[in-house]
Amino acid sequence: MIVDRFGRRFRNLRVSLTAACNYACTYCVPDGRRLMKAKDELTADELVLAVRYLMQAAGIEKIRITGGEPLISSKFDTFLPHVMALPLKDVSFTTNGQMLERKISIIRDAGVQRINVSLDTLDAERFRQIARGGDLATVLRGIDAALDSGIRVKINMVPIKTGNADQVLPMLEYCLERGMELRFIELMRMGHLVHSAAYDRDFLPMQEILDAIALEYQFTRTDAPYDSTSVRYEIPGRGFFGIIANESEPFCASCTRLRLSSDGYLYGCLSNANRHYIRDLLLEPAHVVLPRLQGILMTALTDKQEAFQGEVTVMKLIGG
Ligand code: 5AD
Repeated sequence: MIVDRFGRRFRNLRVSLTAACNYACTYCVPDGRRLMKAKDELTADELVLAVRYLMQAAGIEKIRITGGEPLISSKFDTFLPHVMALPLKDVSFTTNGQMLERKISIIRDAGVQRINVSLDTLDAERFRQIARGGDLATVLRGIDAALDSGIRVKINMVPIKTGNADQVLPMLEYCLERGMELRFIELMRMGHLVHSAAYDRDFLPMQEILDAIALEYQFTRTDAPYDSTSVRYEIPGRGFFGIIANESEPFCASCTRLRLSSDGYLYGCLSNANRHYIRDLLLEPAHVVLPRLQGILMTALTDKQEAFQGEVTVMKLIGG
């Protein structure tokens, strides 16, 4: 097993199906550009092959399908049932929810048990300003369709001081009512935010999120799994929420994530631009692929940083 000096190894693989997205969220892309097509995207077959090799070479146990927006990719419909058939502990995906209602039968039939939906506000007008695409009511119908299918839903919200800070309580109430865990993601220095004054202006720290929640709710901190990214809280009798406190409580030391971009690169760390091209390698026979992949994974593990420093790699390329 490949383990680094912090005891870190790769267990969770995030597979980006496409770099394209039907949104252009202000904190993710700088100029409102949409549908930035990834050049030379891997096919669904190549992605499945890569996943199988990575399960063998790295001991991957969990897969999260990301993007861009994974549901806009035609590969989603074939990739999903294929990875669901692999002996993995967990397969889930992160979506902006825009296509959820339309794809729900494929998702349900594949046996998906849990998903994450990104939603930053319950205000339709503000939604348009932040996402610069999509439609709030469509997302809410998608979420209901997933819940009606018995799928567990977590909601991701990125609180932004000048954007949706007033939505902390309404979003929490909305989620608690539906038995969904809301996870606040502290704004990360990714992409254009790395060198932008907008980051300092918009960053809403964990403590301020907790202060806002404390106005309405009593909560206690609870245990979260070892390699979980989120700090979890329980509101007794109502449910749970979490904060992915990348700045306030960094979790790099227990990171088990490996990322595969839609154009065939492995990334060992979200805070490091180093990447390792594996598409051509996949064409080789297995006895060639596995040892070489292990060498690449060893290097990718040393790419992991001790702390998140920010990275210009745009989040939408590798899906967080
Ligand atoms: N900081 C924090 N979260 C971000 N996301 C995208 N960009 C950023 C950023 N700069 C979130 C999306 C989505 C998840 C995959 O990552 O909102 O929920």
